[in-house]
Amino acid sequence: MEKIYVGIFGIGSYVPEKLITNEDLSKIVDTSNEWIVERTGIQERRIVDESIATSDIASIAAKRALEDAKLKAEDIDLIIVATATPDHSFPSTACIVQKNIGATKAAAFDISVGCSGFVYGLVVGEQFVKSGLYENVLVIGAETLSKIVDWQDRNTCVLFGDGAGACILEKCEENMGILASELGSDGRNGSVLIQPAGGSRQPANEDTVKNRLHFIRMEGREVFKFAVRVMDKASQSVIDKANLKLEDIDFLVPHQANVRIIDAAAKKLNLEQGKIYVNLNKYGNMSSASIPVALNEAIEEKRIKKGDNVLLVAFGAGLTWASMIIKWNRREED
Ligand code: UT7
Repeated sequence: MEKIYVGIFGIGSYVPEKLITNEDLSKIVDTSNEWIVERTGIQERRIVDESIATSDIASIAAKRALEDAKLKAEDIDLIIVATATPDHSFPSTACIVQKNIGATKAAAFDISVGCSGFVYGLVVGEQFVKSGLYENVLVIGAETLSKIVDWQDRNTCVLFGDGAGACILEKCEENMGILASELGSDGRNGSVLIQPAGGSRQPANEDTVKNRLHFIRMEGREVFKFAVRVMDKASQSVIDKANLKLEDIDFLVPHQANVRIIDAAAKKLNLEQGKIYVNLNKYGNMSSASIPVALNEAIEEKRIKKGDNVLLVAFGAGLTWASMIIKWNRREED
């Protein structure tokens, strides 16, 4: 049977205009610019206005990806939204995006994989194109983490930001596009990064609100150790699966949580700094939006060219991880 290859044909992203600096945060919690920069590399982050929800910014990124792919919303067969901050438990954010952009023929659903969500979404979307069921799949990573961050908790509020990124998957030429991927999860340690209340385990009530259980709770050090371990392991494993060597990797777009995590993983992998994209200084951790926003910026900055082997690697709530190698299938002028 003919092997089908799937690539990215359009990409778009959006970050809100409203800027919060470390200095701003030092006025609301006991922190400092020095601590945040030294421990995380983050200098500022963007957050949405109160009236804006995840589907709003997801729809902007989606429209930009459609424009980039020279497609109409009606051409889209499937919409997958990866998010930890959906507009509602139901309907899915993907269905709201479908309505917003007018993708009338598309099927639509959300996936919940924390910060690994965008790479998971690419793998899910790839399967639909490979199977022949769909031609054009829109994959979106979008978050409004500012809505679930506890602005009284210095352990977490300095880390996160809002944003959205989207791309369109289609069949591409042979030996190009997605070459290999790996998805993983270890649910045993899920409680180290959790939004405790608001679901069926602890439905919203006066006590859950009083005890601030609707906000992100995180054991930072545990997540840090896990992240460094899996970034290295998942990268090595996907490089092997693609029958490549580390030297063949032209560019790494890692999940943007903490520059110390990226540096430690790069050191373990022995990958040179010039090949690694970092933009967390400007945006903080945008969870599932981090990788598509970074990928889009790297393309706009012409850091990626046709034929490059691009490695994506992410980790997040679950705990989950995901990695992928894409042999970049688009020329700049396409
Ligand atoms: O996408 C996945 C989501 N999460 C992550 O990737 C996060 C992974 N973890 C991390 O990035 C790091 O663990 C953090 C940045 C969250 C924390 O850095 P750390 O070097 O692991 O610090 P720590 O948690 O060990 O805390 C060190 C000290 C503590 O004080 P004591 O107990 O030593 O007196 C904290 O209370 O730093 C204190 N601290 C702060 N101080 C000033 C924690 N947050 C802050 C803050 N400003 N914002």
